[in-house]
Amino acid sequence: MGQVAWKALCLSLFDYKTEKYVIAKNKKVGVLYRVVQLSIMAYIVGWVFVVKKGYQDVDTSIQSSVITKVKGVAFTNTSELGERLWDVADYVIPPQGESVFFVMTNLIVTPNQRQDTCAESSGIPDALCYRNSDCNSGEAVAAGNGVKTGRCLKVGNSLSGTCEILAWCPVEKKGRPKKPLLANAENFTVYIKNSIRFPRFKFSKTNVLDTTDDSYLKTCRYGPDHPYCPIFHLGNLVSWAGSNFQEMASEGGVIGIQIEWNCDLDKPPSECNPHYSFSRLDNKFAEKSVSSGYNFRFAKYYRDAADVDFRTLIKAYGIRFDVMVNGKGAFFCDLVLLYFLQKSNFYRGKKYEEVRYVVFRCKGACGVAEAFEISTLGESCRSPGNRQKRGFKMRLVRPLASPTHGTAGHHSRPPQGIAVNFPLFKGKFPNSE
Ligand SMILES: *[C@@H]1O[C@H](CO)[C@@H](O)[C@H](O)[C@H]1NC(C)=O
Ligand SMILES: *[C@@H]1O[C@H](CO)[C@@H](O)[C@H](O)[C@H]1NC(C)=O
Repeated sequence: MGQVAWKALCLSLFDYKTEKYVIAKNKKVGVLYRVVQLSIMAYIVGWVFVVKKGYQDVDTSIQSSVITKVKGVAFTNTSELGERLWDVADYVIPPQGESVFFVMTNLIVTPNQRQDTCAESSGIPDALCYRNSDCNSGEAVAAGNGVKTGRCLKVGNSLSGTCEILAWCPVEKKGRPKKPLLANAENFTVYIKNSIRFPRFKFSKTNVLDTTDDSYLKTCRYGPDHPYCPIFHLGNLVSWAGSNFQEMASEGGVIGIQIEWNCDLDKPPSECNPHYSFSRLDNKFAEKSVSSGYNFRFAKYYRDAADVDFRTLIKAYGIRFDVMVNGKGAFFCDLVLLYFLQKSNFYRGKKYEEVRYVVFRCKGACGVAEAFEISTLGESCRSPGNRQKRGFKMRLVRPLASPTHGTAGHHSRPPQGIAVNFPLFKGKFPNSE
């Protein structure tokens, strides 16, 4: 930087800047200015305060617990299983009653599997073979059920077959029942108990009607007429989510149950109500694709008389329900407490140090007291001898000895022994009268 620039910079340090106002005596400009001002006011008052309730304090840290319990039984009669009754312990996984629960609606059962050798399922590409050398002994079948033994097993005279494997045999058959085995699950019910709490406002509530009628929970069903009945028909849950239960039951899927608590806690607690919404969380439009549905496998293990383990493998298809809770509580904020609450005086007293003013007339003694300091000059003292009333607003820094001196009249003066300092007049107070 050049010397000239440095000099200019140095000099500019000592410049004094102030604002200059231009008053335009023009109606159009004036009206425009007021319109803009009004719009901003309207925005702040109308939108921020009235619509968005900007004066409220919001607690979004909702604490919530969800407990679920499914009820219902189903009867099936199939060639594999024979006559069978299914109750809650059979078809709800996991059994704890958490906010995520699975209801089995269809299944492939493979009973009596034992550790043995058998032909791998023909649906697995890696297991296809033409000769024994295609099946490397000891190699696991990719995406298959076991380890190759080195033999290629063919049925009849066919040219190709599948590798023999060491596995839980027989292996699972392909293909699930087209019609869901537990179609009756549509008529099962689930009890969803949700308790919430807004910790900041110490407010809590549940979604269950507060009643002493024992039969209420046994007979009611959630619906527009019973918003506080937490018993849901599974078929309704799925149809409210926009799907068909029987279609979904065959392949499985995921249903989301959202419970929303948006509470204006300025209103009575009865106005703080849960709002339910239901949606399908797995991609319903991919119904025909390979990725559609929801299933998993589990097994039940047994031991025979010869101490050899065997098991029943179940590939379960079903509907998983995810209960999600969110919400926020809004309450008066500090600002409103300050001005509108009934006890505002008390509140303000706590927030602000009280300031008392004493007004007295200028008299001879004014210049000597020292317990006061000038806070605001209400009316300046005119020239000495002027008989006009002169008032000074003073801030009390030390309590007055007697309150009668506080609101001084014509001839009052600060009490004896208390000195007043008037910095504006450098200790000299102009006498009058
Ligand atoms: C179950 O199925 C078998 C054969 O299909 C039949 O004989 C039997 O009566 C059925 N049981 C019931 C209770 O329907
Ligand atoms: C569910 O119950 C209704 C009425 O009780 C009945 O009409 C319907 O067939 C049942 N649904 C299934 C899938 O069993």
